[in-house]
Amino acid sequence: MAIDRDLTHPAISDLRHSAKQRLPGFAFEYLDSGTGRELGVARNRQALDDILFLPAILHGNLVPDLRCKFLGQDFDLPIGIAPVGMSGMIWAGAETLLAKGAVSANIPYCQSTVAAEGPEEVGPHVGQNGWFQHYPVNSADIRRDMLKRIRAAGFTKLVMTVDVPGESRRERQRRAHVAMPPKLTAKVAWQVLTHPAWALAMARVGAPRMPFPESYVEASGSDAFVHAGRVIRGWPDWDYLQALRDDWQGDLIVKGVQDPDDARRMAALGVNAVWVSNHAGRQFEAGPAAIHRLPLIREAVGADLPLIYDSGVESGLDIMRAIALGADMVFLGKAFHFALAALGAKGIAHLLHILRADMVANMSQIGAARLDDLPARLLP
Ligand SMILES: Cc1cc2nc3c(=O)[nH]c(=O)nc-3n(C[C@H](O)[C@H](O)[C@H](O)COP(=O)(O)O)c2cc1C
Repeated sequence: MAIDRDLTHPAISDLRHSAKQRLPGFAFEYLDSGTGRELGVARNRQALDDILFLPAILHGNLVPDLRCKFLGQDFDLPIGIAPVGMSGMIWAGAETLLAKGAVSANIPYCQSTVAAEGPEEVGPHVGQNGWFQHYPVNSADIRRDMLKRIRAAGFTKLVMTVDVPGESRRERQRRAHVAMPPKLTAKVAWQVLTHPAWALAMARVGAPRMPFPESYVEASGSDAFVHAGRVIRGWPDWDYLQALRDDWQGDLIVKGVQDPDDARRMAALGVNAVWVSNHAGRQFEAGPAAIHRLPLIREAVGADLPLIYDSGVESGLDIMRAIALGADMVFLGKAFHFALAALGAKGIAHLLHILRADMVANMSQIGAARLDDLPARLLP
């Protein structure tokens, strides 16, 4: 008898639970950890929970339409897959699986600079739905070459991440011996041995690396990993953003924005969309909940500049909350990887089913037939 995934994994929390069992501790903690005491993660959750809608009655039959248009492109859902570095360490071949999953659901997939597959490997699988995330590079020549390769591989939009000025300690990761490149301590060896399904899948694709930045260094082995880390250790400033704007002809999105003044300045500089995020509480513990910044940024940039939201989204209802507060699209990072780890490639479609069904159910409760109807049902 076929397993009904709606009974085994009806929510993202079920996918996370299975992922925790199926992944070696270091891979799970790499994916799941916030920074410090993780109060930033908790603050994101609480702030989302506090956003309420007024239920609506007597509105007859209503079939919510979840389609959206973003920067001129039609998507079937207002949902995207956020960039996650080393996805391939969490699940073997994750980048290509996510790219294919995005195409079949007609949603965007944003690949990380530090993905375990390069743009040339993923590009052929992502059709028109591929976006590429850029970490600032310490050489203008390397930057231009990277952009050329990203464009040639078929990625349509460039996303510059600005909220990683340096490493974050993420104490839970340290306790689990997360390291880049992965280091085989006794603890890690034990975690791998006790998770044979993960280990066998990984053995088929080889140890995870960062092929894109590594292709710009002379060194080999674990040295290449370390040197590649330095290639993408540029310290970005407004001049860097301007240079990137000049170098990249397509749509440019800036990710990790929380200050309305920054968003306004980016719009003036010709950035095509702003991505409101606090990196899911992974970088800085003492900042505000990212969702609280969204309406302020919407007010600052006006109605026309497209906005993306991410950080802490765990349901279709959370997606509705962010759209009601001014987002045009909502991205998820961890959830797609919990889904892969829990159910393999089939997890992507199942996660999207959960999110879609939750949005339809909750939009019916508040009489919202379209995404544009959401702000009016928001309680002040
Ligand atoms: C394991 C992990 C790795 C990440 N790596 C990157 C990255 O390489 N580049 C980037 O811009 N954001 C990165 N992010 C942040 C995500 O793009 C996104 O902002 C965040 O995960 C969204 O919150 P959510 O995971 O609660 O959905 C990473 C997040 C996680 C969980």
